[in-house]
Amino acid sequence: MKVHIASDHAGYELKEAVKQHFSMGYEWEDHGTFSTESVDYPDFAHPLADAVSKDVTARGILICGTGNGVAITANKHANVRAALCWNHDIAALARQHNDANVLALPARFIDQATAFDLISTFFNTSFEGGRHERRVSKINIQ
Ligand code: RB5
Repeated sequence: MKVHIASDHAGYELKEAVKQHFSMGYEWEDHGTFSTESVDYPDFAHPLADAVSKDVTARGILICGTGNGVAITANKHANVRAALCWNHDIAALARQHNDANVLALPARFIDQATAFDLISTFFNTSFEGGRHERRVSKINIQ
């Protein structure tokens, strides 16, 4: 599975830890940032969302301080369903009910073990379809 990942400075250290922890079994494309120097999260969230928007099989992980900036940015892109997740059940439901294809993580509000669990859950939980398929099909506006 192709996994795109990006963060701002607040998420940089977690981004690096995630790539190392999940190095086996996934093809990673890192869209930056590449240091803890202060940056603007849309400069990294937009390229990731553009890549996910064009590849229905791809997944994305976006990380900033709260997760909100990157999620808000990514959700401007057609076919991108970025879900801000901070606990196990929310990550599972983001896949089961929303068919989320981008996981947005709040680096300043979760520890590393929680982040790894959220990512495992996001990777290993299937969309339930059924009534949720109808709802998800109504999300795009163009
Ligand atoms: C950076 O200080 C912070 O604003 C950013 O990481 C994010 O939380 C924005 O939504």
